Amino acid sequence: MEEEKNKMVRKELLRISNLVTSFCINGHYYAAVDGVSLGINENEVFAIVGESGCGKSALALSILNLHNKAHTKVEGNIYFKGKDLLTLSTEELNKIRGRDIGMIFQDPLTALNPLMKIGAQIEEALFYHASMNSRSRKKRALELLEQVGIQNPGLTYSQFPHELSGGMRQRAMIAIALSCKPSLVIADEPTTALDVTIQAQILDLLGRLQKEIKSGIILITHDLGVVAEMADRVGVMYAGQLVEIADVKEIFLNPLHPYTRSLFASMPNSPAGGRGDKRLPVIEGMVPSLLNIERQGCRFAPRIPWIPASYHEEVPQYHRVKEDHVVLCSCYKNFYLRKGRG
Ligand SMILES: Nc1ncnc2c1ncn2[C@@H]1O[C@H](COP(=O)(O)OP(=O)(O)OP(=O)(O)O)[C@@H](O)[C@H]1O
Ligand SMILES: [Mg+2]
Repeated sequence: MEEEKNKMVRKELLRISNLVTSFCINGHYYAAVDGVSLGINENEVFAIVGESGCGKSALALSILNLHNKAHTKVEGNIYFKGKDLLTLSTEELNKIRGRDIGMIFQDPLTALNPLMKIGAQIEEALFYHASMNSRSRKKRALELLEQVGIQNPGLTYSQFPHELSGGMRQRAMIAIALSCKPSLVIADEPTTALDVTIQAQILDLLGRLQKEIKSGIILITHDLGVVAEMADRVGVMYAGQLVEIADVKEIFLNPLHPYTRSLFASMPNSPAGGRGDKRLPVIEGMVPSLLNIERQGCRFAPRIPWIPASYHEEVPQYHRVKEDHVVLCSCYKNFYLRKGRG
C-alpha cells in the first residue's frame, strides 16, 4: 500500500527525448543510440538491460555529455530540472556532475585518479559542490567511507586506489558518487568486475543508500536477478533502441517483445529463465555492429527466423499496452497475443 502511494507521488526527474548518439567510423556517423525516449522518476530504480553492444553505455554517457566530441554526435533533448543538459556548457555541466547527478562506473580503477589518495578524491567532490571548510570536509569524507562499509575509514582515507581491493575501490567510488546526495545516480554495471559475494554486498549497499538519499537510479546491468530485486521499472535495449519498457513485475510476467522474451529466457539469474531445464536457451546470432544494424524494419528480425517474414517487414511502432508498459514491435499483438506463442 505504502509502495503504491510512493509510486503515485513520484515526479519525473529526467526526460530523455528522441536521443540519437552517433559515432564517426571511417568518415560516416552511425547511431549507437537511435531515437531513445524515456522518463526517469524521482526515487525510482530504472534498470536498463540488453546484450553487450546494444548501446547501454553510449546512452548513459550521453546523459552527462561525456562522449568525446571529436567523433561523437549527441542529438535530441535531455531535460533535468528544467534544463536541457545537451545545451549546457562544460562549466554548467560540471556543476551538475557529481552534485545533482552521480556516476558509478564498471571499473573504479579507471574512474578514480590513480595519483590521488581516496580521502582527497572524496573531498574534491565535496569542495566543488558543498560549501564546507576543510575540517568538516575531512569529517564528512570519513563519515562517507564508514557509510559505504569501509572497515577502517582512517586508513582508507590516506590510501591510493591501487592499495585497495576491487570491492573497496567500488565502495570508495560509491562514496564519491553519493557524497553530495545527488538526485540521480547513473550506475553502469557497477559490480561486473567484482566477485559474486562482493557484488551482492555492493548492490545491497547501493540499494540501501538509494532509499536513504531517495535518489533516482539508472542501473545498467546484465543480471536479471538484480533487476528483479532492485528495479521499479525496466527498459530493454536492442541495437540502439528501447524495445520494451515496463514495470518490473509486468516485464517478468508478461514480456512482449521477442527480444525481451529471448533475453529473459536465456539468462541464468532470471526468474523467467531456465524453467527447470538443464540447458538455457540461447539467442541465435549476435548483436549487429553499428555498420550492420537493420535500420529499415525490425532490428531483431534477422535473429527470429521462426516469425514469418510478413510480420516484421514494416517499421515497428511503439504500442502502449498498459499504463506502464510500452513495446516497440509490430508483431506482438497479432502473433503473441492471438496465438499465445512463447
Ligand atoms: N567510441 C566509440 N566509437 C565507435 N563505436 C563505439 C564507441 N563506443 C561504443 N561504440 C559502439 O557502439 C555500440 C554500443 O556500444 P555500448 O558500449 O554502448 O554497448 P553496451 O550496451 O554498453 O555493451 P556492454 O554491455 O558490453 O557494456 C557498439 O556497437 C560499440 O561497438
Ligand atoms: Mg556498457
